[in-house]
Amino acid sequence: MLHTPIYDPEKTFEENYHEGPFGEYADSEAYMNEGEPQTDFLGVKVYLPFGIPAGPLPTSNHVAAVFRKGYDIAVYKTVRSQAYECHPKPNIVPLQITGDLTLEKADRGVTASTKYTEPLAITNSFGVPSFSPDVWQPDLEAATQAAGHGQVVVGSFQGTNRGEGEDAFIKDHAIAAKLVKETGVPVMEMNASCPNEGSTNLLCFDTDRMEKILTAVKNEIGDTPLIVKLAYFKDQNHLADYVKRLGKLVDGFATINTISAEIRDASGKQALPGEGRLRSGICGAPIKWAGLEMVARLKKLREENNMKFAVIGVGGVTKPEDYFEYMNAGADAVMSATGAMWNPFLAQEIKSQVK
Ligand SMILES: Cc1cc2nc3c(=O)[nH]c(=O)nc-3n(C[C@H](O)[C@H](O)[C@H](O)COP(=O)(O)O)c2cc1C
Repeated sequence: MLHTPIYDPEKTFEENYHEGPFGEYADSEAYMNEGEPQTDFLGVKVYLPFGIPAGPLPTSNHVAAVFRKGYDIAVYKTVRSQAYECHPKPNIVPLQITGDLTLEKADRGVTASTKYTEPLAITNSFGVPSFSPDVWQPDLEAATQAAGHGQVVVGSFQGTNRGEGEDAFIKDHAIAAKLVKETGVPVMEMNASCPNEGSTNLLCFDTDRMEKILTAVKNEIGDTPLIVKLAYFKDQNHLADYVKRLGKLVDGFATINTISAEIRDASGKQALPGEGRLRSGICGAPIKWAGLEMVARLKKLREENNMKFAVIGVGGVTKPEDYFEYMNAGADAVMSATGAMWNPFLAQEIKSQVK
Protein backbone atom coordinates (compact mmCIF):
# COMPACT_ATOMS: atom_id res chain seq x y z
CA MET A 1 0.00 0.00 0.00
CA LEU A 2 1.29 3.44 -0.91
CA HIS A 3 1.04 6.15 1.76
CA THR A 4 1.20 9.90 1.22
CA PRO A 5 4.86 10.54 0.35
CA ILE A 6 7.18 12.53 2.63
CA TYR A 7 8.08 14.67 -0.40
CA ASP A 8 5.14 15.93 -2.49
CA PRO A 9 5.90 15.47 -6.24
CA GLU A 10 3.18 18.00 -7.12
CA LYS A 11 5.02 20.78 -5.29
CA THR A 12 8.25 22.64 -6.07
CA PHE A 13 11.51 21.87 -4.27
CA GLU A 14 11.17 25.16 -2.32
CA GLU A 15 7.60 24.28 -1.24
CA ASN A 16 8.75 20.89 -0.06
CA TYR A 17 11.70 22.49 1.70
CA HIS A 18 9.56 24.96 3.60
CA GLU A 19 6.32 22.98 4.09
CA GLY A 20 7.41 19.34 4.37
CA PRO A 21 7.54 16.65 5.58
CA PHE A 22 4.08 15.45 4.49
CA GLY A 23 1.72 12.56 5.25
CA GLU A 24 2.17 10.33 8.29
CA TYR A 25 5.82 11.38 8.40
CA ALA A 26 4.53 14.73 9.69
CA ASP A 27 2.68 13.29 12.70
CA SER A 28 4.29 13.00 16.10
CA GLU A 29 3.80 9.26 16.58
CA ALA A 30 7.21 7.85 17.41
CA TYR A 31 8.56 4.30 17.18
CA MET A 32 10.36 3.15 20.33
CA ASN A 33 13.42 0.93 20.05
CA GLU A 34 14.05 -1.66 22.73
CA GLY A 35 17.38 -2.58 24.32
CA GLU A 36 20.68 -1.18 23.16
CA PRO A 37 21.92 -0.57 19.58
CA GLN A 38 24.33 -3.34 18.56
CA THR A 39 25.34 -2.77 14.93
CA ASP A 40 28.32 -0.63 14.02
CA PHE A 41 27.80 1.85 11.19
CA LEU A 42 31.11 3.61 10.55
CA GLY A 43 31.83 4.10 14.21
CA VAL A 44 28.28 4.71 15.43
CA LYS A 45 26.17 1.96 17.00
CA VAL A 46 22.72 1.82 15.38
CA TYR A 47 19.64 -0.27 16.14
CA LEU A 48 19.14 -1.37 12.52
CA PRO A 49 21.62 -0.63 9.72
CA PHE A 50 18.80 0.71 7.57
CA GLY A 51 18.02 4.23 6.49
CA ILE A 52 17.25 6.76 3.80
CA PRO A 53 19.93 7.79 1.27
CA ALA A 54 20.62 11.30 -0.06
CA GLY A 55 17.55 12.83 -1.69
CA PRO A 56 14.20 12.68 0.06
CA LEU A 57 15.43 14.57 3.18
CA PRO A 58 16.20 18.22 2.32
CA THR A 59 15.83 19.65 5.86
CA SER A 60 16.35 18.81 9.51
CA ASN A 61 12.54 18.53 9.87
CA HIS A 62 12.54 15.71 7.31
CA VAL A 63 15.48 14.04 9.08
CA ALA A 64 13.76 14.30 12.49
CA ALA A 65 10.57 12.84 10.96
CA VAL A 66 12.28 9.71 9.64
CA PHE A 67 14.11 9.17 12.93
CA ARG A 68 10.70 9.28 14.66
CA LYS A 69 9.49 6.52 12.36
CA GLY A 70 12.38 4.20 13.23
CA TYR A 71 14.84 4.76 10.38
CA ASP A 72 18.24 4.80 12.10
CA ILE A 73 20.44 6.24 9.31
CA ALA A 74 19.39 9.47 7.60
CA VAL A 75 21.40 11.08 4.81
CA TYR A 76 20.76 14.82 4.51
CA LYS A 77 20.17 15.74 0.84
CA THR A 78 23.36 16.56 -1.08
CA VAL A 79 24.64 20.12 -0.61
CA ARG A 80 27.16 22.27 -2.50
CA SER A 81 29.71 24.95 -1.64
CA GLN A 82 27.45 27.66 -3.13
CA ALA A 83 23.74 28.09 -3.86
CA TYR A 84 22.60 26.12 -6.92
CA GLU A 85 19.19 26.29 -8.57
CA CYS A 86 16.75 23.39 -8.84
CA HIS A 87 15.26 22.26 -12.16
CA PRO A 88 11.64 23.40 -12.56
CA LYS A 89 8.94 21.02 -11.36
CA PRO A 90 7.98 18.29 -11.88
CA ASN A 91 11.08 16.83 -10.24
CA ILE A 92 9.49 13.43 -9.69
CA VAL A 93 7.43 11.55 -12.26
CA PRO A 94 6.01 8.00 -12.06
CA LEU A 95 7.09 5.49 -14.74
CA GLN A 96 5.71 2.43 -16.48
CA ILE A 97 8.32 -0.31 -16.16
CA THR A 98 7.59 -4.02 -16.08
CA GLY A 99 10.14 -6.15 -14.24
CA ASP A 100 13.81 -5.21 -13.99
CA LEU A 101 15.14 -2.12 -15.74
CA THR A 102 17.98 -3.90 -17.53
CA LEU A 103 20.59 -1.72 -19.26
CA GLU A 104 19.14 -2.83 -22.64
CA LYS A 105 15.68 -1.68 -21.54
CA ALA A 106 17.12 1.60 -20.31
CA ASP A 107 18.79 2.09 -23.75
CA ARG A 108 15.39 1.79 -25.40
CA GLY A 109 13.96 4.55 -23.19
CA VAL A 110 11.15 4.52 -20.66
CA THR A 111 7.57 5.80 -20.70
CA ALA A 112 6.20 8.07 -18.01
CA SER A 113 2.99 7.17 -16.25
CA THR A 114 0.28 9.36 -14.78
CA LYS A 115 -0.07 7.57 -11.47
CA TYR A 116 2.01 5.97 -8.75
CA THR A 117 1.48 2.22 -8.58
CA GLU A 118 3.34 -0.75 -7.12
CA PRO A 119 5.98 -1.89 -7.81
CA LEU A 120 7.08 1.74 -7.47
CA ALA A 121 9.21 3.21 -10.25
CA ILE A 122 9.96 6.89 -10.60
CA THR A 123 12.39 9.28 -12.17
CA ASN A 124 13.90 12.08 -10.12
CA SER A 125 15.31 15.16 -11.80
CA PHE A 126 16.40 17.98 -9.50
CA GLY A 127 19.88 18.90 -10.76
CA VAL A 128 21.16 18.64 -7.17
CA PRO A 129 19.96 22.04 -5.93
CA SER A 130 21.57 23.63 -2.90
CA PHE A 131 20.97 26.60 -0.69
CA SER A 132 24.06 28.57 0.28
CA PRO A 133 26.17 27.25 3.18
CA ASP A 134 24.90 29.95 5.55
CA VAL A 135 21.44 28.38 5.13
CA TRP A 136 22.31 24.67 5.07
CA GLN A 137 25.11 24.61 7.64
CA PRO A 138 22.92 25.49 10.68
CA ASP A 139 20.17 23.18 9.40
CA LEU A 140 22.57 20.24 8.92
CA GLU A 141 23.81 20.88 12.44
CA ALA A 142 20.18 20.74 13.66
CA ALA A 143 19.66 17.50 11.71
CA THR A 144 22.74 15.99 13.35
CA GLN A 145 21.33 16.84 16.75
CA ALA A 146 17.96 15.27 15.87
CA ALA A 147 19.55 11.81 15.93
CA GLY A 148 18.45 9.83 18.95
CA HIS A 149 20.33 7.05 20.72
CA GLY A 150 21.28 4.43 18.10
CA GLN A 151 20.73 6.77 15.16
CA VAL A 152 23.08 8.67 12.85
CA VAL A 153 23.02 11.48 10.28
CA VAL A 154 25.22 11.42 7.19
CA GLY A 155 26.10 14.71 5.44
CA SER A 156 26.14 14.35 1.64
CA PHE A 157 27.99 16.83 -0.58
CA GLN A 158 29.36 17.17 -4.05
CA GLY A 159 31.64 19.44 -6.04
CA THR A 160 30.35 21.82 -8.69
CA ASN A 161 31.89 21.90 -12.15
CA ARG A 162 31.78 25.56 -13.17
CA GLY A 163 33.86 24.99 -16.31
CA GLU A 164 36.96 26.47 -14.66
CA GLY A 165 39.18 23.43 -15.11
CA GLU A 166 40.13 20.37 -13.11
CA ASP A 167 41.96 22.12 -10.27
CA ALA A 168 38.96 24.36 -9.52
CA PHE A 169 36.64 21.32 -9.60
CA ILE A 170 38.88 19.41 -7.16
CA LYS A 171 39.14 22.45 -4.90
CA ASP A 172 35.38 22.90 -4.85
CA HIS A 173 34.97 19.36 -3.51
CA ALA A 174 37.43 20.15 -0.72
CA ILE A 175 35.59 23.39 0.14
CA ALA A 176 32.20 21.65 0.24
CA ALA A 177 33.68 18.87 2.39
CA LYS A 178 35.18 21.38 4.84
CA LEU A 179 31.83 23.20 5.14
CA VAL A 180 30.03 19.93 5.88
CA LYS A 181 32.67 18.87 8.41
CA GLU A 182 32.21 22.19 10.25
CA THR A 183 28.61 21.22 11.11
CA GLY A 184 29.85 18.36 13.28
CA VAL A 185 28.06 15.66 11.27
CA PRO A 186 29.63 12.33 12.29
CA VAL A 187 29.72 10.65 8.83
CA MET A 188 30.08 12.20 5.37
CA GLU A 189 29.20 11.03 1.86
CA MET A 190 30.52 12.35 -1.43
CA ASN A 191 28.11 12.07 -4.32
CA ALA A 192 30.22 11.12 -7.32
CA SER A 193 27.38 9.71 -9.37
CA CYS A 194 25.39 12.80 -10.25
CA PRO A 195 24.48 12.79 -13.94
CA ASN A 196 24.73 16.59 -14.03
CA GLU A 197 28.41 17.04 -13.15
CA GLY A 198 31.01 15.87 -15.62
CA SER A 199 28.63 16.06 -18.62
CA THR A 200 29.01 12.91 -20.75
CA ASN A 201 30.49 10.67 -18.09
CA LEU A 202 29.87 10.36 -14.39
CA LEU A 203 32.66 11.57 -12.12
CA CYS A 204 32.72 8.24 -10.28
CA PHE A 205 33.86 6.45 -13.46
CA ASP A 206 36.99 8.62 -13.76
CA THR A 207 39.45 6.83 -11.46
CA ASP A 208 42.33 9.32 -11.87
CA ARG A 209 40.18 12.31 -11.09
CA MET A 210 38.46 10.54 -8.20
CA GLU A 211 41.87 9.75 -6.68
CA LYS A 212 42.84 13.44 -6.78
CA ILE A 213 39.49 14.56 -5.37
CA LEU A 214 39.45 11.99 -2.58
CA THR A 215 42.99 12.92 -1.57
CA ALA A 216 42.00 16.61 -1.38
CA VAL A 217 38.79 15.82 0.53
CA LYS A 218 40.54 13.53 3.03
CA ASN A 219 43.07 16.30 3.65
CA GLU A 220 40.21 18.56 4.73
CA ILE A 221 38.14 16.15 6.79
CA GLY A 222 40.78 14.11 8.58
CA ASP A 223 39.33 11.05 10.24
CA THR A 224 35.60 11.77 9.76
CA PRO A 225 34.36 8.61 7.99
CA LEU A 226 33.83 9.17 4.26
CA ILE A 227 31.43 7.23 2.01
CA VAL A 228 31.53 7.57 -1.78
CA LYS A 229 28.26 7.20 -3.69
CA LEU A 230 28.70 5.15 -6.83
CA ALA A 231 26.64 4.40 -9.91
CA TYR A 232 26.36 0.94 -11.50
CA PHE A 233 29.64 -0.13 -13.13
CA LYS A 234 29.14 -2.23 -16.26
CA ASP A 235 32.75 -3.32 -16.57
CA GLN A 236 34.24 -5.58 -13.90
CA ASN A 237 37.88 -4.72 -14.75
CA HIS A 238 37.05 -1.05 -14.35
CA LEU A 239 35.49 -1.66 -10.93
CA ALA A 240 38.36 -3.95 -9.85
CA ASP A 241 40.99 -1.33 -10.71
CA TYR A 242 38.86 1.33 -9.06
CA VAL A 243 38.59 -0.54 -5.78
CA LYS A 244 42.29 -1.41 -5.82
CA ARG A 245 43.21 2.29 -6.12
CA LEU A 246 40.47 4.01 -4.15
CA GLY A 247 39.26 1.41 -1.66
CA LYS A 248 41.90 2.40 0.88
CA LEU A 249 40.98 6.10 0.67
CA VAL A 250 37.34 5.67 1.72
CA ASP A 251 35.41 4.17 4.62
CA GLY A 252 32.46 3.04 2.56
CA PHE A 253 30.91 2.76 -0.88
CA ALA A 254 27.16 3.38 -1.21
CA THR A 255 25.69 2.01 -4.39
CA ILE A 256 23.77 2.51 -6.58
CA ASN A 257 22.53 5.95 -7.55
CA THR A 258 19.93 5.97 -10.35
CA ILE A 259 20.05 4.31 -13.80
CA SER A 260 19.78 6.89 -16.56
CA ALA A 261 17.38 6.62 -19.52
CA GLU A 262 15.45 8.80 -21.96
CA ILE A 263 11.98 9.44 -20.58
CA ARG A 264 9.01 10.22 -22.82
CA ASP A 265 5.30 10.53 -22.17
CA ALA A 266 2.73 8.22 -23.79
CA SER A 267 2.61 10.44 -26.89
CA GLY A 268 6.41 10.24 -27.33
CA LYS A 269 7.21 13.76 -26.12
CA GLN A 270 9.99 14.54 -23.62
CA ALA A 271 8.40 13.99 -20.21
CA LEU A 272 10.41 16.48 -18.13
CA PRO A 273 10.35 20.12 -19.22
CA GLY A 274 13.49 21.96 -20.33
CA GLU A 275 16.81 21.48 -22.04
CA GLY A 276 19.02 18.59 -20.98
CA ARG A 277 16.19 16.76 -19.24
CA LEU A 278 15.30 14.09 -21.80
CA ARG A 279 17.63 11.73 -19.94
CA SER A 280 16.89 11.35 -16.27
CA GLY A 281 17.74 9.01 -13.41
CA ILE A 282 15.41 6.12 -12.63
CA CYS A 283 14.94 4.71 -9.16
CA GLY A 284 12.62 2.33 -7.32
CA ALA A 285 11.86 -1.38 -7.60
CA PRO A 286 13.13 -2.00 -11.18
CA ILE A 287 16.76 -1.06 -10.30
CA LYS A 288 17.14 -3.43 -7.34
CA TRP A 289 19.00 -6.01 -9.43
CA ALA A 290 21.78 -3.49 -10.12
CA GLY A 291 22.23 -2.45 -6.48
CA LEU A 292 22.33 -6.09 -5.36
CA GLU A 293 24.86 -6.98 -8.01
CA MET A 294 27.14 -4.04 -7.09
CA VAL A 295 26.99 -5.00 -3.41
CA ALA A 296 28.07 -8.57 -4.15
CA ARG A 297 30.87 -7.42 -6.50
CA LEU A 298 32.20 -4.85 -4.00
CA LYS A 299 32.13 -7.33 -1.15
CA LYS A 300 34.18 -9.80 -3.20
CA LEU A 301 36.67 -7.11 -4.25
CA ARG A 302 37.01 -5.99 -0.64
CA GLU A 303 37.97 -9.52 0.33
CA GLU A 304 40.37 -9.96 -2.59
CA ASN A 305 42.13 -6.69 -1.72
CA ASN A 306 42.05 -7.28 2.01
CA MET A 307 40.35 -3.94 2.54
CA LYS A 308 37.91 -2.69 5.17
CA PHE A 309 35.44 -0.31 3.52
CA ALA A 310 31.73 -0.72 4.31
CA VAL A 311 29.31 -1.59 1.52
CA ILE A 312 26.00 0.24 1.66
CA GLY A 313 23.30 -1.22 -0.56
CA VAL A 314 20.91 1.23 -2.22
CA GLY A 315 18.35 0.78 -4.98
CA GLY A 316 14.88 -0.65 -5.21
CA VAL A 317 14.25 -1.43 -1.55
CA THR A 318 10.47 -1.12 -1.26
CA LYS A 319 9.60 -4.14 0.92
CA PRO A 320 11.13 -5.75 4.03
CA GLU A 321 12.29 -8.75 1.92
CA ASP A 322 14.46 -6.39 -0.13
CA TYR A 323 16.39 -5.34 2.99
CA PHE A 324 17.13 -8.98 3.84
CA GLU A 325 18.12 -9.70 0.24
CA TYR A 326 20.72 -6.89 0.38
CA MET A 327 22.04 -8.08 3.75
CA ASN A 328 22.35 -11.61 2.37
CA ALA A 329 24.23 -10.23 -0.65
CA GLY A 330 26.81 -8.82 1.79
CA ALA A 331 25.65 -5.27 2.52
CA ASP A 332 26.81 -3.76 5.83
CA ALA A 333 23.88 -1.32 5.70
CA VAL A 334 20.89 -0.79 3.41
CA MET A 335 18.98 2.31 2.35
CA SER A 336 15.71 3.09 0.61
CA ALA A 337 14.80 6.37 -1.08
CA THR A 338 11.76 5.72 -3.29
CA GLY A 339 10.28 2.93 -1.16
CA ALA A 340 10.69 4.85 2.10
CA MET A 341 9.21 8.02 0.61
CA TRP A 342 5.88 6.24 0.12
CA ASN A 343 6.07 4.07 3.26
CA PRO A 344 6.78 5.71 6.64
CA PHE A 345 6.59 2.26 8.26
CA LEU A 346 9.17 0.35 6.19
CA ALA A 347 11.86 0.49 8.91
CA GLN A 348 9.34 -0.66 11.55
CA GLU A 349 8.17 -3.51 9.29
CA ILE A 350 11.78 -4.67 8.89
CA LYS A 351 12.45 -4.36 12.63
CA SER A 352 9.43 -6.54 13.36
CA GLN A 353 10.97 -9.28 11.17
CA VAL A 354 14.55 -9.15 12.46
CA LYS A 355 15.25 -12.16 14.63
C1 LIG B 1 13.69 12.39 -4.65
C2 LIG B 1 15.08 11.88 -4.80
C3 LIG B 1 16.16 12.76 -4.73
C4 LIG B 1 17.47 12.29 -4.82
N1 LIG B 1 18.52 13.15 -4.65
C5 LIG B 1 19.79 12.66 -4.51
C6 LIG B 1 20.87 13.50 -4.10
O1 LIG B 1 20.70 14.70 -3.86
N2 LIG B 1 22.10 12.94 -3.96
C7 LIG B 1 22.34 11.61 -4.18
O2 LIG B 1 23.48 11.15 -4.01
N3 LIG B 1 21.33 10.78 -4.59
C8 LIG B 1 20.08 11.28 -4.74
N4 LIG B 1 19.04 10.43 -5.06
C9 LIG B 1 19.33 9.00 -5.35
C10 LIG B 1 19.08 8.10 -4.14
O3 LIG B 1 19.96 8.39 -3.07
C11 LIG B 1 19.24 6.61 -4.51
O4 LIG B 1 20.58 6.35 -4.85
C12 LIG B 1 18.36 6.17 -5.67
O5 LIG B 1 17.10 6.81 -5.59
C13 LIG B 1 18.14 4.66 -5.67
O6 LIG B 1 17.45 4.23 -4.52
P1 LIG B 1 15.87 3.87 -4.51
O7 LIG B 1 15.63 2.90 -5.59
O8 LIG B 1 15.61 3.38 -3.13
O9 LIG B 1 15.16 5.17 -4.78
C14 LIG B 1 17.70 10.90 -5.02
C15 LIG B 1 16.61 10.03 -5.11
C16 LIG B 1 15.31 10.49 -5.00
C17 LIG B 1 14.17 9.52 -5.09
